[in-house]
Amino acid sequence: MPSKKRRKREERPTIHPKNKYSENPPDFALLASLYPSFEPFVFYSRDGRPRIDWTDFNATRELTRVLLLHDHGLNWWIPDGQLCPTVPNRSNYIHWIEDLLASDIIPKPHGDNYNVRGFDIGTGANCIYPLLGASLLGWSFVASDMTDVALEWAERNVKSNPHISNLIEIRKVRHCEESLPIQESSNDENVSSESKVDVREGGNETKASPSSSFDVPAAADKSYHGPPVLLDVVQDGETFDFCMCNPPFFENIEEAGLNPKTSCGGTPGEMVCPGGEKAFIARIIEDSIALKHSFRWYSSMVGRKVNLKFLISKLREVGATIVKTTEFVQGQTCRWGLAWSFLPPVKKIISSHVAERGVLSFMLEGIQRHFGAIDVLQSVDSFFCNSGASCKLNASSFTVDITASTDHCNSVLGNQIKNHNEVAGSSSSMQEASLNLTFRISVFQQMPGTLLVKGSLQQKDSPLSGLFSLIFRQLEDVLRSKFCREKT
Ligand SMILES: C[S@@+](CC[C@H](N)C(=O)[O-])C[C@H]1O[C@@H](n2cnc3c(N)ncnc32)[C@H](O)[C@@H]1O
Repeated sequence: MPSKKRRKREERPTIHPKNKYSENPPDFALLASLYPSFEPFVFYSRDGRPRIDWTDFNATRELTRVLLLHDHGLNWWIPDGQLCPTVPNRSNYIHWIEDLLASDIIPKPHGDNYNVRGFDIGTGANCIYPLLGASLLGWSFVASDMTDVALEWAERNVKSNPHISNLIEIRKVRHCEESLPIQESSNDENVSSESKVDVREGGNETKASPSSSFDVPAAADKSYHGPPVLLDVVQDGETFDFCMCNPPFFENIEEAGLNPKTSCGGTPGEMVCPGGEKAFIARIIEDSIALKHSFRWYSSMVGRKVNLKFLISKLREVGATIVKTTEFVQGQTCRWGLAWSFLPPVKKIISSHVAERGVLSFMLEGIQRHFGAIDVLQSVDSFFCNSGASCKLNASSFTVDITASTDHCNSVLGNQIKNHNEVAGSSSSMQEASLNLTFRISVFQQMPGTLLVKGSLQQKDSPLSGLFSLIFRQLEDVLRSKFCREKT
């Protein structure tokens, strides 16, 4: 019988419990009846449910506008072409920061009722984090960006909300000489950031027309050499409770545009930076070493698990006293939150979902364009069904629940099973024969062309966990050779 604590962890909600939308997802029909400008974007599917077209930038922008107005009392707009945030997704990050600040992991310097001050790195035209943080929690912010369009519209969005405008300062990041030049984009292409599909809000990031972008040299090295990020933007003597960042995820426009059919969003200027998110967040880490206690918490969103692992080890190398991670899962979108501090911990907690017991995962990168998450899910289903295991595919949660006997596993593994007893170690094959492996395989869209496949054992301490790991690796090989352009 799993412990209470473990059960709680296994049932981790995909949306933060404090999130306004955790119990009540946006009601499109109600919003359409209240806001005539939203009404033309709502249609009804055969099952009678109100829907919007997530590939239509105007629809998603209007949804964000009415949600911010209806649920948060915020006036908001962005011009065509700018990254359009999904309100429930962005609220999750705000609430995670709220949890970190409320925790006693590091000392609270000013007691409980102090004014929280945050720094939003790359606030975008949408200025979403400061608007949500200020309106939901009364936090004040410095919000930085470097493109003229982002700075102009972030400022407008702040000024349109006089009740919180004194809480938010928009700060221009100035380019120093060695920075790469920012150029007006020469084409109208937009790039995709997050991919399908947030079941509650529907949740894609959206996009549209031209904007500015880095001029990234073809042979750019992997380190970030763009404009300053924290150092030289934070002023002498300034202190903050936290910084947060939704970084430019991609290294180049080609990577960002892997799947042009998904209208997920943002312009190259918002989504691309030299070295991609790995280099950008590594720069935040480097700046944090210099700025140390000027921030209680440093944090960033991370789009790729492989980058998360790299960044965690970098943080350990540089002596961060605390490293915390979380998963932001909504529908099919999966991202990570990474936070660290250099303050002495009250309780030393180093947590990461990366090495959670009974949970294995791998990334499928470079997926051929004509394949989607559903194809991968169906292959997972047939991979196990063909062995005779019992499989239950759920196309809305993108999961397959599997119960397999050791015979089924034997059939999956072919003659590899002979080696299994060495891997599983302790228990005898007689004992194992009477046991079943019960586990769930979930498929998450990370970004265009990239899926995360996760396997979670129902019984984390199963004596068959070694066997589970063998068949999971086998699954990885099969999916990679079927769906990926090349081995990644
Ligand atoms: C992915 S967008 C995030 C926008 C917004 N925070 C959101 O979550 O929708 C990244 C933003 O970072 C900005 N940016 C890129 N490099 C930056 C830097 N060195 N300093 C500040 N902002 C930067 C881009 O202009 C862009 O607006």
